[in-house]
This record gives sequence, structure tokens and C-alpha cells, in this order.
Amino acid sequence: MPIESIHNTLQDLKKTLARHNYAYYVLDTPEMSDAQYDLLYQQLLQTEKAHPELITADSPSQRVGDQPLGHFQSVKHAVPMFSLENAFIQDDLVDFERKVNDKLVAEKVTEELPIAYAAEPKMDGLAINIRYESGKLVQAATRGDGSVGEDVTHNIRTIRSVPLELLGEGWPSVLEVRGEIFMSKAVFNQLNEISLQKAEKPFANPRNAAAGTLRQLDPKIASQRQLSLYLYGWGEISNDWSLPALYHKTIEQFKVWGLPTNPDAKVVYGAKGMADYYDQLQAKRKDLPYEIDGIVYKVDVLAYHSKLGFTTKAPRWAIARKFPAEEVWTELLDIEIQVGRTGALTPVARLRPVNVAGVMVANATLHNMDEIERKDVRIGDTVIVRRAGDVIPEVVGPVLSKREASSVRLFNMPSRCPECDSAVIKEHDKAVYRCTGGLFCPAQRKRALQHFVSRKAFDIQGLGDKLINQLADLNMVHHPDDLFSLTIESLSGLDRMAEKSAFKVISAIQAAKETTLARFIYALGIPEVGEVTAKHLANHFITLDNIQSADKDALLDVSDVGEIVAENIVTFFQQPHNQEVINGLIAAGIHWPTPQAQNRAIDSPFAGKVVVLTGSLMQISREDAKQLLEGLGAKVTGSVSAKTDYVIAGEKAGSKLTKAESLGIPVLSEQEWIEMSGVTNG
Ligand code: IVH
Repeated sequence: MPIESIHNTLQDLKKTLARHNYAYYVLDTPEMSDAQYDLLYQQLLQTEKAHPELITADSPSQRVGDQPLGHFQSVKHAVPMFSLENAFIQDDLVDFERKVNDKLVAEKVTEELPIAYAAEPKMDGLAINIRYESGKLVQAATRGDGSVGEDVTHNIRTIRSVPLELLGEGWPSVLEVRGEIFMSKAVFNQLNEISLQKAEKPFANPRNAAAGTLRQLDPKIASQRQLSLYLYGWGEISNDWSLPALYHKTIEQFKVWGLPTNPDAKVVYGAKGMADYYDQLQAKRKDLPYEIDGIVYKVDVLAYHSKLGFTTKAPRWAIARKFPAEEVWTELLDIEIQVGRTGALTPVARLRPVNVAGVMVANATLHNMDEIERKDVRIGDTVIVRRAGDVIPEVVGPVLSKREASSVRLFNMPSRCPECDSAVIKEHDKAVYRCTGGLFCPAQRKRALQHFVSRKAFDIQGLGDKLINQLADLNMVHHPDDLFSLTIESLSGLDRMAEKSAFKVISAIQAAKETTLARFIYALGIPEVGEVTAKHLANHFITLDNIQSADKDALLDVSDVGEIVAENIVTFFQQPHNQEVINGLIAAGIHWPTPQAQNRAIDSPFAGKVVVLTGSLMQISREDAKQLLEGLGAKVTGSVSAKTDYVIAGEKAGSKLTKAESLGIPVLSEQEWIEMSGVTNG
């Protein structure tokens, strides 16, 4: 192929990938599946590998640099980065509005009052200045002291919502945009879950995690941690472009150029409008995917900004209304133990009840013994309690200055389970203490039942924790299969249960008999088999029998299943009591449709074909490849037989490839398959 057409192919690929990123991250309306994106991306990588001379800085392959930095460079901001004045109560906003109005009147601005303000969530992250020259991202720097920051271009480039090149046209030759770098709640929770598993120190909150990530010299870490950005301003802008008349229109223009902006921003009028927006956001706060610590209001008409000017630290045309603190002090009365579904003992802090940002908190998690020791929390301490968004309240640590030596007690994990008196063991190399009682332990039984009926499992509404506990305590239900022999009469006999509610519960139980294999597997509560692994198992093995009879090697073929999980699964199905419960459930009439490949893409060459994947694929994960094939209408199976239509052979393919060749089954290389799939024509 002539070099020019390769260059053109690369340009097309880059455009398609950038467009997809924009659709995905900025517009929130994805145009292709992750698997399709990965395929295109891999095609780009391969082409660039063959023609390194064609690699440009705006290629998505260049988001993560090879070399970690030795140190951070200082960056002097072309336009200083200001801070904001704070408001804590509505009266502060009324004052702010009056000052703005007075100034505008003095300046003889004739506008009808109240004037418009752009209202935005105040993101709890770190301010950043990103500089584009001729549409290309050239530098990103932290706020620092407002006039000099640190160059973190290497980390900002890894953020997939940040365009390396602006989209569209008409942008100024120099454009500095400003916004907040933050970590979403979901990414933060995932990150901390992993830290806790590895017994590493977790981050205190998403803001610290974002700061810690931005401060890394090695961009690989930032690229793994998935930071986000929303814009809320600008710095230097060359005068070959004239700003719109309004702040919110300017931000909208940035969005058109491919830059991420906050979808929850709104224009409001006067102090009353500001208060309404505050109430709306306060109510929505816990459901927002990111942490906020308040609201920022900005005068919308840009011409008024120059009339209002700045104090030494902040603009007079903007103000931040902060939410009440989410960290408060209270007394740690006691530490109690909660026994989980798999017997893990979790220490829970019993607190003198305290109001944290509008919610009364009396219990908070202490995670595990390692955490208690690391934080040095003792019974009787005054402790800092934190509740952030939808995160479970937690004890941040003791207030050492308030500790009186005589009044504090150290805490030790019990050696016997407080619920069933079985021995407690500490797992080797882990922070976890576990009750060995298994299904003998009433606490474990109750948690297992609660898990079984939970939303992602059998989703039986009406069977709340309290009712489950009651049923277990009365010995009406021991194991999940017992739920299905409950009757309206047996339930109506319970405390505070009218016949009508009993009827509702029984109907819900009956309706839940129709489920999916994935939900069924998840509901069993096999240690470390979550919702996603359960789905993979169901898709891979198709039937319950196949899963139950799979050995460790067969299980390891499933994406997401490692040694420990495979062992847990094998052990689980080997236990006679688990078999009894499963048989009981099937006998009770639990059923599900057999998962089948959907024949959506009838005109694809793989529609209705039986395909086997073997060897290691270079461009796409096994699970994504499987999903992609299924999307194209194929049935993906594990072994080669006369019924197989195609074998897709990656690197180091072994016996399956030999067998395919001996049976005369068409073998495709990974690249041939990708080309045949027709997903690469942008
Ligand atoms: S405007 C000159 N808008 O809050 C005005 N700031 O307390 C500059 N922040 O340093 C800031 N969300 O890091 C603005 N929607 C928003 C914001 C926001 C978060 C942060 C920003 C700033 C700090 C000031």
C-alpha cells in the first residue's frame, strides 16, 4: 500500500476514535461498543507499529508516554488562576446579589433585575489549566499558588475525555481552558476496594485520590485510574476569536469543540433562583456520579465581569455556596462485630448519634482490624466521622488531642464468633477474620438469605432484611429453597404481617421463580463470584450442569476467573449441603431460559456460525472477542468438532488448531477475522 493511503487510513482511524470518545465521554451517547472501539484502536496500534514514522502526538496511542518524568516542571500561568469567595448560608447569597446589583446600578447598567447567573456544581477535585495551540493540546498545569503551577501534561493526556486535538473549527490559535479534575465515585470506590484487598492504605476521599493521581510522575498510573474533567472557565485566549456575550454560551462553545462540560449546569435568576438550584442539587447530590462540595454561581453576562472586577483573591462576579461539612466529631461508644455472608467479621463503630450533613449517624464502618490498628482508633476516643455522598459513613480517625489515657480501651478481635460461638480464624496474609461456623452460624445464614433475595440476585421485593431475620429466627427458613415453600397462612401468622402484605410477599416469591442463569449463579453466594463473574460463567457454560461439572482448568478459561475464584467455585459445588439447596431450588420450580447467541446481525458472515477461539489474541480480550462474535450472530463454543464453522487462531494456538486443520475446518487469523467482521471501516 502506498504510504499516502496508509497515512489517510491512520487519519481516518484517529478521527473515528476521537469522535467516539467525544460521543462517549462528552455527549454521553456512545456510538459503538467497547469491543468495536478496541478493535479499531488495535488496528491503529498495528498500523503505527508498522509505520512508526507516521505517529503523531494527537494519536490516542500517544496518551500514555513511555517514560516516567524525573520531576515536575513549573509553569507560570499566562493569566492568574483565582479562587472563589465562599457563602455558607442563603443570606450570604442575598448579600452577594445586592453587591452585584449595586455595582451594576452605579455603572449605569440598565438591566431588568434579577439578573442571570450560571449555576454549576462545585466539583470536589483540583483546578487545571489546559492550553491548546492551533487546536492541539500543548500543556496542562495545576493551579499551584495561582500564578505558578506544576506541569502535569503527561497525566492530563491520559484522560480520555480530554481531546488531544480540538474538534470542529473556528477555535482561537491560543485557547486555555480551565476546569476541575476529579475522580468519579465509582472509580474511587473500585480503587479503594482494590487497596483494601491488598491491605494497602485506602484514599480518604475522591479528591485525595485525584490529587494523588495527578501528582504521579509516571503517566501509566493516571491512565489506569481514570480521572475525569469538567470545564468551568478559561485563561489566555488569543484575540483572533471573540468570546460570546454570555458565560454559559462560552462553555457551550467549548463543548462543541469536544471539551467535557458539566451536564448539571443551569442558568438561574437572582438569589431566589440560586436558592432553588441549591435545593435541587442538594436533593440530587447523593445520586450524582461525582462528589461536590457546593455550588458555584457566576454572573452570566461577560461584559459585567470587567465592571465587577476582582479582589486580591477572587472575582466579584462569582461565589461558591458550600454544603455543610460532611466530617464531624463524636464519641466512639463501642466497637461491635458484624458477621457477613461468608463469615468475614467486620468491626462496626457504635457512635454517640450525630448529625452529618443532614443525616443522623449512629454506626460507621471500621473496615477491618488492620484499619483499626493503622488509624489507632480506641473505644472512648473522640473520632472524626465522615459521610460523603452515597458512601457508607466511616470513622476517619481519632482526635488525639481529645484522648484521655484513662478513658480509652483498645479493641481486639474476638476469638469466637459472637453469633454462633464457632472459632474465628485469621486468613493467612489477609486482613480478614472469619467465623468458621458456615451455615451453622445464624448470622451467615441470614446474610446468605438477604443476598439471595437482593436486587441483583432474585430481586424479591417485600422480603426485606427484617423479615428475613424474623423468618430465620423462627426457623421458618433455613436455606434459600425454603423461601419457596412459604405460604400466605404461614406468613400471616407473623408479627405485624397482614394477609394483604403476606399475599404480596408470596406473589413476589412466586414471580421470582423465573430468572436467568447468571442471577441464579450470583444468588448462590459463591465467595468472590460477583454479578459480572456470574454473567461470564453463564455466557460461557450456557447450562448449570456445565458449570457444576467444570473443573478448575475449564473455569480458568472464563474471563475474570483466576485461580482463587476457580477453586471457590469447585469447592462450592462439591459441598453436599450446597447441592441439596440447588436441588431444592430446582425442585421448587426455579427456571431460566437457556442463554443463546442472538442472531441480530443476519448479514454478518458469522451469523448462525459455530466459532471457536483459540490461542492468545493480541488485539482484543477473549471476553470482548466473544461478545463481539455473539453480537455478529455467532455461537462461540469451547471445543472443536465437526460442527465448528470457523476457528479463530491467535498466537501460540495449540491442539484446537491442529484438530481444526485435521477436520478441514476453516482457520482465520485474528487479523483476517477482524477484517471479515467489517467493523473497521470507521
Ligand atoms: S470557578 C475565578 N467553577 O473551586 C473562578 N471553580 O474554591 C475560578 N471549583 O479553584 C473558579 N468547581 O478548583 C469554579 N464550577 C466551578 C468549580 C470550581 C470546582 C473549584 C476550583 C477553584 C475552587 C475555588
